[in-house]
Amino acid sequence: MINTSDLSVKLIEEVREEYGSPVYVFDEGAFKENYHNLQETFQSYYPKYRIAYSYKTNYTPYICKKVLEYGGLAEVVSDFEYYVAKTVGYKDRDIVYNGPYKQESWKELIENDGILNVDNIQEAKRLFEYIKSNPDKEFGVGIRINIDAGQGYISRFGIEPYSEDFKYIIKEIQETGNLYLKGIHCHIGQSRGIERWQARVTEMLTLADALFMDDPPEYIDLGSGMFGDMEPVFRAQFNGGVPSYEEYARVVAKEVADHYKDETDDKKPWLYTEPGATLISRYIWLISTVISYKEVRGRKIAGLDCSFFNAGETVRYKRLPFHAFNQSQKYKEADFAGYTCLEDDILTTDYEGFFDIGDPVVIGNTGGYSLVFKPPFIQPDIPMVALREDDTLHLIKKGQTFQGILSDYYI
Ligand SMILES: Cc1ncc(COP(=O)(O)O)c(C=O)c1O
Repeated sequence: MINTSDLSVKLIEEVREEYGSPVYVFDEGAFKENYHNLQETFQSYYPKYRIAYSYKTNYTPYICKKVLEYGGLAEVVSDFEYYVAKTVGYKDRDIVYNGPYKQESWKELIENDGILNVDNIQEAKRLFEYIKSNPDKEFGVGIRINIDAGQGYISRFGIEPYSEDFKYIIKEIQETGNLYLKGIHCHIGQSRGIERWQARVTEMLTLADALFMDDPPEYIDLGSGMFGDMEPVFRAQFNGGVPSYEEYARVVAKEVADHYKDETDDKKPWLYTEPGATLISRYIWLISTVISYKEVRGRKIAGLDCSFFNAGETVRYKRLPFHAFNQSQKYKEADFAGYTCLEDDILTTDYEGFFDIGDPVVIGNTGGYSLVFKPPFIQPDIPMVALREDDTLHLIKKGQTFQGILSDYYI
């Protein structure tokens, strides 16, 4: 896997020349390798494991289609994301629909044996009404469980086990002739450490045993929040350490395998996780250009033609891999600021290398929660090219146009 500072200058210049700046580059070969590493590591402990790619992290259709080709599920949380999944060719049975606000598509999904995880009681009531009005068909649903895995906050998602809402839902499922409980789901944000995963899997297996006394569930979906593979400069900032896929698989997939070791293969539940950042963050680079330089009371500030919105949310908490590909060594050391009028639009502070106006700057780890979070604030969004496995470049997302943005407004 290439590190940001080792990218080929020839490639960067080719991309800038053909597609302009700023621009994203999706490294297709490295994305595929990481995907298969994760999948194969989990499958080596528990073969009935499948990845459900989290669309909210980056729903670029070209990337979603790659996941479809690799045999992954689509994890969606809105009718819009469901539409993306269907547009790239997903069948409902390979779509997991989560989230606190599902609009209309859940009906089509459950009609066709898709995976629906109910988040709240109002959603459950709507679902029961729909199922009762379609008595000739059998439906299966899952529940998002609100678990306490020691994360230190009360999540707003899912239903607390054994609460009144939970008991009501289970009772309704048992009493509705054409409905059965298909599986259970959880996800805990900001909990990437191995102990949190250990707690998550233990809680969920205990609950699975209590809820599915005859046969195991069809699936146990443990959500996401694993660290992915990282560049050394980025990894070094995580003081608590960054577990490998092997370490995650040993506490998650192995535990599930041990738990169901006496079941026949067809009875063992599917194990899903829903990686987003884990799969995509490292494999998209943001190429940008230095447009200005100034010194203000000793502070050195370089301006870039991109903004922190393009780099994504992680840039606000950590130093992303950042490298200026310098030819002239004119300036040295600076804070690099984005094009917006926000004081905190800073892409990196105290960069130590050389640079000059017009130099390309590459920011790594910009694949997750970047373009999906980019508002049309001050400037339209930027294009993305795929660096394919045969080293050719291919445009996979056009830059937004002024006209495109204004087309939503009445003048
Ligand atoms: C239900 C669910 N699944 C998966 C994800 C993806 O998590 P990550 O990007 O940390 O892998 C999220 C992120 O918020 C989520 O809410």
